[in-house]
Amino acid sequence: MKLLVLNGPNLNFLGIREKGIYGTRDYEWLVKHLEEKAAAEGHELEVFQSNCEGGLIDKIQEAYHTGVEGIIINPGAFTHYSYAVRDALASIQVPIIEVHISNVHKREEFRHTSVTAPVCTGQIVGLGLRGYDLAMDYLTGEEG
Ligand code: DQA
Repeated sequence: MKLLVLNGPNLNFLGIREKGIYGTRDYEWLVKHLEEKAAAEGHELEVFQSNCEGGLIDKIQEAYHTGVEGIIINPGAFTHYSYAVRDALASIQVPIIEVHISNVHKREEFRHTSVTAPVCTGQIVGLGLRGYDLAMDYLTGEEG
């Protein structure tokens, strides 16, 4: 299966930012871990991060042209207000799983709203980096 993992703003600062919330593992660890998992299960995976709304939108549109079959997205703070990222996700027909490392519902009020979740297949929240694995297992049909 051809899969795409998208990470939004500040997720490249994993292991640096708010370690009590996001953990101590860095972004490079996450990318390597997901690439190894996908390869071990025989899937094609691209992992992309951008601090810019447009970067994520361009990648979502590119996924349409390149035949990506499933998307895992952690839109970071764009989750809470980016109608542009939402519209991009709504434009394509593949299954999309939204992942949040932290339990956004236990945090500030503004994090309780996701404008992107309603156009996704499902959402995994608060399970740490494991959320990405679980999202991949769902998309690929693996037991995990
Ligand atoms: C996050 C939660 C968002 O509220 C925050 O802006 C992030 C990370 C998470 O993975 O828990 O950047 O998406």
